[in-house]
Amino acid sequence: MPAPSLTVVEHPLVRHKLALMRDTRTSTAKFRRLMHEISLLLAYEATRDLPLAETEIETPLERARFPVLAGKKLCLVSILRAGNGILDGMLDLLPSARVGHIGIYREPRSLAAIEYYLKLPADLAERDVILVDPMLATGNSAVAAISRLVELQARSIKFVCLVAAPDGVANVHKAFPEVAIVAAALDRGLNEHGYILPGLGDAGDRLFGTK
Ligand code: URA
Repeated sequence: MPAPSLTVVEHPLVRHKLALMRDTRTSTAKFRRLMHEISLLLAYEATRDLPLAETEIETPLERARFPVLAGKKLCLVSILRAGNGILDGMLDLLPSARVGHIGIYREPRSLAAIEYYLKLPADLAERDVILVDPMLATGNSAVAAISRLVELQARSIKFVCLVAAPDGVANVHKAFPEVAIVAAALDRGLNEHGYILPGLGDAGDRLFGTK
């Protein structure tokens, strides 16, 4: 089996936009727009290995063969609610992808992941899943969501986030070494409440203006 894969996207645009998102003074509207923009760039990275097939195309000058996507069946799965910020951006780039939602909340004391909602395409076993959640902190929510996707026999699974903590990456890869992780940043660690340091705060609250 290949070594567990973590890709930190170090493109200057990603680093710049993420730095602005971290700033506590950034407004809800700007935070939302930045999340949308970074999601496009993360989608670009996460889809780097999509297979292509040559097809014949007639340009205004001649017929020639060109690569197009080989009918890959994708499913974007958002971990509610903050995952929806990444989902919206990714759908701009992948408008034909199917979409699933998994509602998971963190039990505040134990930080255990509790699933409260699940809606996925029926044909998941024929689809490659990109699972999205902005913050990979303890990894408990990600592991719970991936377990559910594995149980439903998703064809493959990638996990895309904005900010990852070393604990979260280790937990996901311990449980599911085959799941490749794409992140915009790998931060220092977690505080006693399971928040990422330095992080950007509560991604859901900042995205939806609920605090
Ligand atoms: N969830 C968040 O929104 N932020 C964190 O730092 C950790 C989990």
